[in-house]
Amino acid sequence: MVCAPINPADLNMIEGKYGESRPLPDVPGNEGCGRVVSVGAGVDDSWIGRLVLVDSKAWREEGNWPVADLVAVPAGIDARRACFLRVNPPTAWCLLHNFVGLCPGDWIAQNAATSAVGRAVIEIAKRKGWKTLNVVRRPEAAGELRDLGADAVVVDGPGMADEAAAILGGAKPKLGLNAVGGASATRLAGLLAEGATLVTYGAMSREALKIPNGFLIFRDLHFRGFWLTRWLRAVSDEAKSSVFREVFRLAGSGCFSPRIAAEFPIAEVSAAAARAAQGGGKVVLRLGD
Ligand SMILES: NC(=O)c1ccc[n+]([C@@H]2O[C@H](COP(=O)([O-])OP(=O)(O)OC[C@H]3O[C@@H](n4cnc5c(N)ncnc54)[C@H](OP(=O)(O)O)[C@@H]3O)[C@@H](O)[C@H]2O)c1
Repeated sequence: MVCAPINPADLNMIEGKYGESRPLPDVPGNEGCGRVVSVGAGVDDSWIGRLVLVDSKAWREEGNWPVADLVAVPAGIDARRACFLRVNPPTAWCLLHNFVGLCPGDWIAQNAATSAVGRAVIEIAKRKGWKTLNVVRRPEAAGELRDLGADAVVVDGPGMADEAAAILGGAKPKLGLNAVGGASATRLAGLLAEGATLVTYGAMSREALKIPNGFLIFRDLHFRGFWLTRWLRAVSDEAKSSVFREVFRLAGSGCFSPRIAAEFPIAEVSAAAARAAQGGGKVVLRLGD
């Protein structure tokens, strides 16, 4: 293995607060990048020397993975970039493509817009001609999101709806993307068009969703969920490959640059996890050469 990021889901899994637990003892790390040094019987030798992404047990110096679980990294993308591409950009791609049909000029509203998923949503939407209304909790994040292609950035809180309505000027998003939960999700849903869909894919506040009855009765809002792992288990190899092809193509054109807060060697994994829990960008674990 070469390197791996620490994502919120990794910390949730270690804490036992994730949707699925794994038998102990276990190795954490839901994504990471390594180089194939040898292959088992029946596996094509051409894998040897290739950079690959793994989807589990990533935080270690070496290991064995089934070849079907590996994603080969195309030439031109190095391990330090690639290690961020297995989870968050594919999630953003699926959130934007799997729920509602969007036309150029349509608005999408999302909270946790500074997250790796949120940033990937902005970059993909920009290239598709979809507009993004981005809800953040830190006003100083607005500039960096606009640089990525955000059409509008508003600060979460009681005044957010009025600020957003002034920007939207009567337009209503068909799609809302929620990774916070609690009151933030309610405010986000309040911005959406009649019959729109709010997809919950994260719960950074750890607060439950609160859905006013009127959102269902009078506005026919649809509340859906998304978990990349479940999606990857359910779809064909071709569907998976086509998402990773798009992700690598966009990464090759400059999208999905990680916001890195710190790097740690694997020997300091506890300090690395503690730093990751503070937020403010990704922590990278250095696992080997
Ligand atoms: N369902 C899936 O398949 C799937 C796949 C990938 C990720 N996810 C989920 O998506 C979310 C984002 O993941 P990521 O790796 O992109 O995150 P990330 O880059 O580590 O960023 C964390 C984000 O959460 C925000 N945040 C942290 N604590 C918060 C709180 N108490 N209230 C509101 N916002 C808070 C941060 O805001 P600041 O910038 O202001 O600190 C930042 O936007 C996580 O919940 C993760 O589990 C789900």
